[in-house]
Amino acid sequence: MPHNLDKNKKKCYTNSSTLKNIQIQKKEVTAMKYKVEVLTGIRPTGDLTVANYLGAVVPVVELQAQGVSPVVFVADLHAITDNEPTTVRQYIHSVVADYIALGVDPKKAKIYLQSDIAGEVTTLTALLARHISVAELLRVPTLKDKLKANANPKTANALLLLYPVLMAADILLNRARKVPVGEDQLAHMEVTRLLARRFNKRYGEVFPVPEVLQVKSLRLLSLKGEGKMSKTNPRGAIFLTDDLKTVANKIKAAETAFEGIMNEKLESHILVAKGLAKTESEREEVDAIIKAHKSGKPVMGQFKQLLTRIVQNFLGEFQEKKAEIVRDPFYIPSVLKEGAKVARENAIETLEEVERVLYHTQ
Ligand code: TRP
Repeated sequence: MPHNLDKNKKKCYTNSSTLKNIQIQKKEVTAMKYKVEVLTGIRPTGDLTVANYLGAVVPVVELQAQGVSPVVFVADLHAITDNEPTTVRQYIHSVVADYIALGVDPKKAKIYLQSDIAGEVTTLTALLARHISVAELLRVPTLKDKLKANANPKTANALLLLYPVLMAADILLNRARKVPVGEDQLAHMEVTRLLARRFNKRYGEVFPVPEVLQVKSLRLLSLKGEGKMSKTNPRGAIFLTDDLKTVANKIKAAETAFEGIMNEKLESHILVAKGLAKTESEREEVDAIIKAHKSGKPVMGQFKQLLTRIVQNFLGEFQEKKAEIVRDPFYIPSVLKEGAKVARENAIETLEEVERVLYHTQ
């Protein structure tokens, strides 16, 4: 077997530069190549907020604009860790329509549904899960946080424990080079990289180790009250589904800052305004108002009006596009079907290589 042979060879050479050459050679012989340049997964668990748009969708759309063809998938298996399957199913098509309406172009990007390749995903999950211990999984910080927040190991469901392994299976099946993630997913990425390395070390260089493409966190806060903008606090969040009146009321009730003072709330509103603004002149208007505010002028009313106008324009356009996309009931299913075809081909290619190294077949 090629990798066993290499191992023997390695023992014979003591000169480190020769050793290096051999390792490089070994890689070239057996390592699979990266297949997907950028992979991103979304959990279909509810309506998106503008924070989801600016934090998760914009980076993908920007990469696409730079000529990268991202692969986007709907992580419905991950979503059932803490949601009813019927709820999850309800959001699958909606979230795909959201992504397309927000600029992910199915002609450039591939979009697939995780459970459309469930056989491949769960097979690799099982093969990877053998290489990490229960104790190690219990130490993954995200799990520890979740357990602290609403459960303990006695009541937490076991899918939560497997969550990072399932995520590793998504990434490694695709042989993704870069995975854009926020800070909350860094620990999961570490598990993926660890599993890839362990598997490679044990069986031969199968998996190209993925890189984290860290998306700078935007710190978008709730419009009102404590914490981040999130679905769990709907009154402080701007949903992409909000109607224009609702948005105006939410912004009206938003907390800002006293004249001359900058605080995190106002900084967050500025990020929303600039992120959603369609034109440079709108962004300049924001800057001008903020400048006046910093010099002590009472302009927060004016700022709220501008923010409302910007958000309403953005949502109006988005909602129109989404309505157009969902008007044809066959469109989203056809996008997912095409995406699944490509994802399955890649996944099977990866699994064939995995089986080859596991069972030493050709
Ligand atoms: N865990 C990710 C989240 O909660 C979703 C996800 C699942 C994912 N599998 C992935 C993201 C693979 C990137 C790559 O947002």
